[in-house]
Amino acid sequence: ALGALEVHGELDSTSSELQRRGSSARDFSVVLAETQTAGRGRRGREWLSPPGLNLYLSCLKRFDSGFAALSGLSLAIGVIVLRTLESLGIAGAGLKWPNDVLAIASRPSGGKLAGVLVELSGEYQGPCAAIVGIGLNLRLTPALREQAGQPTCDLATLAGGTPPDRNRVAAALIAALVEGLGQFERGGFSGFVADYARHDLLRDQPLQLSGPLGTFEGTGAGVDDRGALQVRLADGSLRRIDSADVTVRRT
Ligand code: BTN
Repeated sequence: ALGALEVHGELDSTSSELQRRGSSARDFSVVLAETQTAGRGRRGREWLSPPGLNLYLSCLKRFDSGFAALSGLSLAIGVIVLRTLESLGIAGAGLKWPNDVLAIASRPSGGKLAGVLVELSGEYQGPCAAIVGIGLNLRLTPALREQAGQPTCDLATLAGGTPPDRNRVAAALIAALVEGLGQFERGGFSGFVADYARHDLLRDQPLQLSGPLGTFEGTGAGVDDRGALQVRLADGSLRRIDSADVTVRRT
């Protein structure tokens, strides 16, 4: 892949920047910003993006297969972030379905280390593109923790107080993305299932799920090879959840 790397001082959002490029963006284009004025999270939430502390990165990947074949992509990105941390020697993180990267030490509430936002465009069964946005917390100020409105954590905490060098983290994340997105293109989510399972924080946990079909309880029973969450219900049956519209809470 040719790729392209851009580092901006300030953008509204690294993902919006790649969206504006549209078809002119090269495959594997990576955009980083020091700060974002309108960082976006999942479900229309805001992603606070002050300068100097964290990483805000988006990568555009094209697929010939159409997005019908991309189930599990957003979970694979969570695995890619975990692989990045492992390559940097940082332990103590895990995955909460579908793709939140949490610190294990802060169980059961879970402190969020990274957020992943995958946006697809193009055709269902033809050329398409994924814009993968990753926000990774290296060091959060007390004010930022407060503003976040949810439990958060940062790499500095996991690394024993000092955040790892930001350039090293960025380089490791880009390397893991290029490798991992290529792997996904060749084999889909199946090549990530084992790594996901090793880091699955919901496995064997009591869960409460709520979504368009109502609220129910069960026990986490892993993810399947398409990235759906399996939940064991009280009667012993398995229910497969493949909608990211479902909110999962440990009870
Ligand atoms: C989430 O809600 O957990 C996803 C957060 C994704 C944030 C990243 S930061 C880089 C990229 N640009 C954005 O505007 N959002 C993503």
